[in-house]
Amino acid sequence: MTVVVAMASLKGGTGKTTVCLNLAVTAEEAGLKTVVIDVDPQQASAKWGDLRAVTGRSPTVISAMAARLPQALESAEALGAKLIVIDTAAHAEGILVSSIDAADLVLIPCRPTIVDLQYLASTVQLTALRRKNAAVVLNAVQTRTVDRCQAEGAITDMGINLVPVGVSNLVAYARAITTGQGVTEFEPSGRAASEMRALFGEIAD
Ligand SMILES: Nc1ncnc2c1ncn2[C@@H]1O[C@H](COP(=O)(O)OP(=O)(O)OP(=O)(O)O)[C@@H](O)[C@H]1O
Ligand SMILES: [Mg+2]
Repeated sequence: MTVVVAMASLKGGTGKTTVCLNLAVTAEEAGLKTVVIDVDPQQASAKWGDLRAVTGRSPTVISAMAARLPQALESAEALGAKLIVIDTAAHAEGILVSSIDAADLVLIPCRPTIVDLQYLASTVQLTALRRKNAAVVLNAVQTRTVDRCQAEGAITDMGINLVPVGVSNLVAYARAITTGQGVTEFEPSGRAASEMRALFGEIAD
């Protein structure tokens, strides 16, 4: 059985690509054959995939238009994927809806800011209308801050699941992606690496 996870948020810059690629690398390291499908016209995940393709490192990244998502999913399954992570685009409801419809689980990254929280409701509504399993991943958080606690409270009040592992605001996330890596490769014993393993564990459960 292949599980499809869509990274979704109507707001830009929430961490869709960061969480998508790190999750994919961590899943591969855990022995789960993983393929990323990039349907964002910005193609950030696909460009990261190009950097890795030079050395032939998995996961494979398939670049696709949202209208070709069914074909991309077939290609990923033909490659033996057990986990497919779809990186989607901000401000693009059509792309988001196709990706949500294809997913078994929708992960919604959200930063602990008022603007992100205001935007979050619209993404949550989309997943609810499509009757999808969805959960918010708080991204770029700092430990034990008021912002984080308030954001967690606001998300819980919306009645949506919150993944219990938050993703910290750490420079390792940006540096790893820039160098075509995941944080578990960039700094295997670092804090970002251990929280990514914990995040993967939660999602695998
Ligand atoms: N946890 C984090 N710690 C530090 N920097 C982060 C973190 N998450 C994301 N960033 C940085 O924030 C920026 C936006 O992140 P990312 O590209 O993952 O968001 P996105 O939702 O995919 O954006 P877009 O909507 O443009 O596709 C990037 O420069 C990334 O390196
Ligand atoms: Mg992105």
